[in-house]
Amino acid sequence: MCGIVGAVAQRNITPILLEGLKRLEYRGYDSCGIALHTNGELQRSRSTARVAELEKQIEQSGLSGYTGIAHTRWATHGVPSTDNAHPHFSRGRIALVHNGIIENHDELRAELQGLGYVFESQTDTEVIAHLVDHLYQGDLFETLQQAVKRLHGAYAIAVFCRDEPHRVVGARQGSPLIVGVGQGENFLASDAMAIAGTTDQIIYLEEGDVVDLQLQRCWIVDANGQAVQREVRTVHAHTGAADLGPYRHYMQKEIFEQPRAIGDTLEGVTGIMPELFGDKAYGIFKKIDSLLILACGTSYYAGLTAKYWIESIAKIPVQVEVASEYRYRDSVPNPNSLVVTISQSGETADTLAALKHARSLGMEHTLTICNVSTSAMVRECELAYITRAGVEVGVASTKAFTTQLAALFLLTLALAQSKGRITEQQESDHLKAMRHLPVAISAVLALEPQIIAWSEDFARYENALFLGRGMHYPIALEGALKLKEISYIHAEAYPAGELKHGPLALVTKEMPVVTVAPKDSLLEKLKSNMQEVRARGGELYVFADADSNIISSEGVHVIRLPENYGQLSPILHTVALQLLAYHTALARGTDVDKPRNLAKSVTVE
Ligand code: G6P
Repeated sequence: MCGIVGAVAQRNITPILLEGLKRLEYRGYDSCGIALHTNGELQRSRSTARVAELEKQIEQSGLSGYTGIAHTRWATHGVPSTDNAHPHFSRGRIALVHNGIIENHDELRAELQGLGYVFESQTDTEVIAHLVDHLYQGDLFETLQQAVKRLHGAYAIAVFCRDEPHRVVGARQGSPLIVGVGQGENFLASDAMAIAGTTDQIIYLEEGDVVDLQLQRCWIVDANGQAVQREVRTVHAHTGAADLGPYRHYMQKEIFEQPRAIGDTLEGVTGIMPELFGDKAYGIFKKIDSLLILACGTSYYAGLTAKYWIESIAKIPVQVEVASEYRYRDSVPNPNSLVVTISQSGETADTLAALKHARSLGMEHTLTICNVSTSAMVRECELAYITRAGVEVGVASTKAFTTQLAALFLLTLALAQSKGRITEQQESDHLKAMRHLPVAISAVLALEPQIIAWSEDFARYENALFLGRGMHYPIALEGALKLKEISYIHAEAYPAGELKHGPLALVTKEMPVVTVAPKDSLLEKLKSNMQEVRARGGELYVFADADSNIISSEGVHVIRLPENYGQLSPILHTVALQLLAYHTALARGTDVDKPRNLAKSVTVE
């Protein structure tokens, strides 16, 4: 999703802006650009290729400057093209980049066209550039404060003006924007990682803030125009994600990092206690009588899995909702419910909005499971558990998902303890199994050669069905999502019992059926579902485990996970499905880490 970097300094900032863009690449983008204040004019360079190409373009043109802004664009309004790439200019005076969606852009466009502004792009962003130019009377900071009052929607904006060479102004509402405070220089960015290495002194702007950055000045006003002091935090953002090591893709690297990521996520957990989730957790866990889980994408599937765990172990009813649906539907709030958001990035616009919506309905107790400790989600929730997956670069989530599952299992145990529904012995057995997860995952990773053999065959299909039952149904959903995201094979997941209510009609020898089949109480029923597939000529690809007792036969391919892992089995089966998706995509030659049309951090609706 769109990324922003901006700087005002006393040195050439081109390398800082380019490095920032490279660090924002992981969010997903389809064009990029940079604008600088050079020799009293606005200059820019834009490209629909990668940031590395933009860098070459800039080397050739020799573009440099002390004040400037840069952007990676993920197209919403208008196709990916150079004209639509940011920064957008207005009358050679204003240069502006934007992340978000301006909902009233049509109306503003008509108004500005009426005033004589000529539009060069199809974007909603160009509207803001012209609006700023139209309102400008010599003070860019004041102008932006006025301009944002006319905008409906979500935005993070960085803008500078030809006539004020040492000033960059920013604003945020609904999209992330941070300030990096330097010595005699200041920066703006979508996240702290973009400017890590340049400064670690970070201010997280709040909703409605407008910021004035000059060489020695960082001045913020809030949504009411009142000057405000925001805390400057020292943030050690990771910069090491760039190293691929022996791996071909970040996704592969991140799949193989899972033993470490889960180990780190559980580090310091010496026993089960609500306080792992925050000081106030005990009182809140005692009080609540249900959970409302809100999330998007892969994180939503983590929530679905947690529902099985929490209802079975802690005996607390759980409702799991796709954030983008929940925020707009009429629902019946329960003030005694704990609202749990799950998010890798902590910046997903729909999940943040759903959280606010739940709060507005009177649900005051909130907890987040999140991978970014400095994110808006963590700042906005009362309680938090930070997964320690580390920076995830691959757009398709892998280690973030399994660490979310680990954190959610811990939450299950802490809730069960608070409600007195688990014995000490059970707690200690579960904790032991969790501590063993890194070793158990490593054993699944060792199955890679067998999965590669499958994937060579699998890559020729254009459709696939995934089946699971019980707590492995969400894992089947996640396996199908992984496959479609990166290999572009159309994949759907069903609870296996639903097969004969529709999807069975699709089963032919051209429709492989991937089955998640650990030994559990539903295995015999699942075996009947598998028979239904075989009877129609469908090829089965079965992920069984040590105890499943399913053997390979004609049309039935079986990979056996080394251990039966009881209630934590979803985590191990996920790893196998990630490898299947990865190697199938590799065999099909897709851009695994940056699948078409997708973004890592979805900061717009
Ligand atoms: C995007 C990503 C997914 C992710 C989803 C939710 O679609 O590509 O991998 O699951 O957003 O993101 P979050 O950061 O809230 O977990």
